[in-house]
Amino acid sequence: MDKMSVFEILPNQNDVIRLVQITDSHIFSEASGKLLGLNTRESFEAVFERINKEEWRADILLATGDLSQDASPESYQYLTQRFVQSGIQSFWLSGNHDDPDVMMEHMNEKNVSPAKLIHAGNWQIILLDSSVRDHVHGELSVDELNFLEQALSNYKDKNTIIGLHHQPVSVDCDWIDKIGLKNANELKAIVSRHKQVKAVFWGHIHQRYHQKIEGVEWIATPSTCVQFRPKSKEFSAGEEAPGYRYFYLYPDGRFETVLHRIDTLEYTVDYTVKGY
Ligand SMILES: [Fe+2]
Repeated sequence: MDKMSVFEILPNQNDVIRLVQITDSHIFSEASGKLLGLNTRESFEAVFERINKEEWRADILLATGDLSQDASPESYQYLTQRFVQSGIQSFWLSGNHDDPDVMMEHMNEKNVSPAKLIHAGNWQIILLDSSVRDHVHGELSVDELNFLEQALSNYKDKNTIIGLHHQPVSVDCDWIDKIGLKNANELKAIVSRHKQVKAVFWGHIHQRYHQKIEGVEWIATPSTCVQFRPKSKEFSAGEEAPGYRYFYLYPDGRFETVLHRIDTLEYTVDYTVKGY
């Protein structure tokens, strides 16, 4: 697939574009699969039910990596089936637990698209693959950096948000900071040259983060399953509820974002586990 081919979404004129981000669902091939004692399909279902019941339906769903725990075809088929049932135009990118080739095979039908360049009104969404095969940390390849540079250079008049899996900033959580995006400076250099970039957003850290730096908002969204404890030196599960995030993209180039967490799930997280 040519990454530069644009997936065009036609919003109503003057309308706000509603985008929902879900991330780090860690779905297993088996329906009974658990991460730290939490059934990841159950927590995903609880999140996704909320999204589907929303009166103000999302126009676009972005799933930002670690969608599967085991990169199995079954896990991706399960997610594709859910996204198709929802009818929301859905896109995805890969995380460290994912296999981009298996995703491409099983997450490419009906309203589920592997496109990485999305236009909606005067907004552009760029989805980057920061996954590195057989490694937990992230890195943007030369191809990915070139894709980003080209998309920003070709469409200077489009307000842009950029999604990826790994965090390009330090989040004051020692163990996670070691497995973030290795070449974050290269991403930041490109972003700083293109003033139409409004936000960069990601998953991976299983906790919220939101900072505005020199006009760009840097945003992380919690996992749909287990949370990680903020400001923790060592691996530690967090006690907050699974979450997801809305972005509201306005025609005048402003955007707003709101983090939601579910409150209905019974927790069975095993806090004694020392890694994930
Ligand atoms: Fe991850």
